[in-house]
Amino acid sequence: MLLILLACTPASPTDTGAAPGEEAPLPDVWGPPPAGDLDPEPGVVEVHLTASRSEVSWVDDGPTSVWAYNGVVPGPLIQARLGDTVRVVFENDLDEATTIHWHGLRIDDEMDGVPAVQDPVEPGEQFVYEFTPPDAGSYWYHPHMRSYEQIERGLQGTLIVHEPDAPAVDRDRYFVIDDVALTGKGSIQRFSMSGMDQMMGRYGNTLLVNGSTDLLTDEVRPGGVERWRIVNTANARTMWVDVTGARWRVIAIDGTLLPEPYETERFQVPVGRRVDLEVIPDLDAEAVGLRVALPDGSDWSEYPVFEGTPAGDAGPGEWAQWPAAPLPDLLDTEQELILLLNAESDGSDLSWTINGETYTEGEGFEVQAHVPTRIIIKERTGMEHPFHLHGQFFQVIARNEEVDPTDLGQLDTVLVNGNDRVDLYTTFDNPGVWMAHCHILEHAELGMMTEMHVTE
Ligand code: C2O
Ligand code: CU
Repeated sequence: MLLILLACTPASPTDTGAAPGEEAPLPDVWGPPPAGDLDPEPGVVEVHLTASRSEVSWVDDGPTSVWAYNGVVPGPLIQARLGDTVRVVFENDLDEATTIHWHGLRIDDEMDGVPAVQDPVEPGEQFVYEFTPPDAGSYWYHPHMRSYEQIERGLQGTLIVHEPDAPAVDRDRYFVIDDVALTGKGSIQRFSMSGMDQMMGRYGNTLLVNGSTDLLTDEVRPGGVERWRIVNTANARTMWVDVTGARWRVIAIDGTLLPEPYETERFQVPVGRRVDLEVIPDLDAEAVGLRVALPDGSDWSEYPVFEGTPAGDAGPGEWAQWPAAPLPDLLDTEQELILLLNAESDGSDLSWTINGETYTEGEGFEVQAHVPTRIIIKERTGMEHPFHLHGQFFQVIARNEEVDPTDLGQLDTVLVNGNDRVDLYTTFDNPGVWMAHCHILEHAELGMMTEMHVTE
């Protein structure tokens, strides 16, 4: 009865086009192709991912053999609304074991995709990941086994949890930025884990944005509002991004919207980190560009990766209102962890350590859930480490005793520069076994990883 009545109600101005009992369609995001939702039930997103060997054409001399989710690099975009259950039926068609980790999502540890908690998914096996993301924002997924090779070979994808009350934008885009190390013939260079790779992590020689080495192009609306989500999926290289031909500001970091978005210059994106920008194309711009900037001695090299051509009638040119919650208060801390980041050499090989131990040597940390905690990270080698904690958000209390405004936000990844001391604040609200590690994948592989055992 009720259904018929609803169906007869004339469309209201806010009608989304969805029939009763159906959900409004998700925004159409420009970027890596979306995975289809295979479960018609509202509130459930079901996606099938298969990891297998595939081929892509990144360079003219290609093709390049890759390992990919559903044959594409980056893998399909997984999209959900806040509150949806996400079910990923995963099949491993590779020749080696793997897992999928959902970087930044504060879900149950059984679904976090780390071998410390789940059995590796062996070749030919299936595993069903199912979780309800508690936070909206921009996330990504990747293996958590031999990540330095599996991610570099192409296993990486994006995941968006849409805010229920996000303002409508003219375009929502996701840019996946990576650098890969290719041979002259376009193959992925072998994984030697020698000298420089051990020391710096593996730096690529080819910049990829959404799996393209060419400039990406599209139309943009002058004076319209766009949301640009950016993730750095490189093994090691810290990148910066810059926007031309537009006013732009930072609206979210590592998923969560910032209570106070800010305009800035060139913005740093360490590996693992996500940043969302709000971009308003200038009315008189000939083009709107996204550039990746890399330090080059005392100067910068800029690599244009996207160019938008103005088209259509002008928009109002006004910032949108983003539904951000205030940052949680920093309470007096009652628990303290100290992590000394260091390295050791046996004369030929390096290992990277936390408190003098590699991952396999160490026992991890026992911590109490729901307790305001200070994590003090001290870097001892003079090299940078993008520190990532699973399953929790943290805030930066101070960097070398000072507050850097670009550190504000609820984060899951923070860059610890050489010899820095960074103090983090978290309440460990999500009990379980959680990895904490350097996201330079070679450093993690060579030991710079530990576990936080968070108990009620
Ligand atoms: Cu993006 Cu432990 O990982
Ligand atoms: Cu590191």
